[in-house]
Amino acid sequence: MSALSELYEEIARCQKCEIAKYRTRVVPGEGAEDADIMFIGEAPGWHEDQQGRPFVGPAGQFLDELLALINLKRQQVYIANVIKCRPLGNRDPLPQEMLNCRGWLERQIELICPKIIVSLGRYSMALYFPGKSISKIHGTAEKRDGIVYYTMYHPAAALHQQSLREVVKADMRKIPELLAQAGSMPEAKQEPATQQLNMFEI
Ligand code: URA
Repeated sequence: MSALSELYEEIARCQKCEIAKYRTRVVPGEGAEDADIMFIGEAPGWHEDQQGRPFVGPAGQFLDELLALINLKRQQVYIANVIKCRPLGNRDPLPQEMLNCRGWLERQIELICPKIIVSLGRYSMALYFPGKSISKIHGTAEKRDGIVYYTMYHPAAALHQQSLREVVKADMRKIPELLAQAGSMPEAKQEPATQQLNMFEI
């Protein structure tokens, strides 16, 4: 059994949040264990909760379309979420839930060692670019400790707001070039620690 599969078993036993009681399935993540690109969404929705797999509903179908634009299939990347259980009524994740789940995500990142982490939507962005506005930083990247962090709008946002569809597609199309340059990209200057404390300002 791979270290990642063992981690999934640990995640499946997690009861840190109230929502764990109501889940049908936990949704740890899936994809290539040695993926160069890791996508991080927000939280499982109804379809994901039923199947125990990330991005399998309408937003997932659009994500598959976006991946096809850069000639990738979901099996070639890794897909996870900020939180692993479905928030009741599909409400937004709570700061405490994000905190409780953060350790799982960090361990997934350590095992996969992606070259690029693509945050999908504001909640995922808030982990890596706290206090920033997605409308300002989508489509931009920053390298820290050897990983390139790249921000995109959530595919579901583009389904609800037609005007974002082309924006999301254009941001997706930048990924192959980013991957090619990831090794030579200079590290960003780290923000002072005091400015990083505000991780859940969304
Ligand atoms: N939206 C997400 O953020 N994650 C999923 O897995 C599905 C929809």
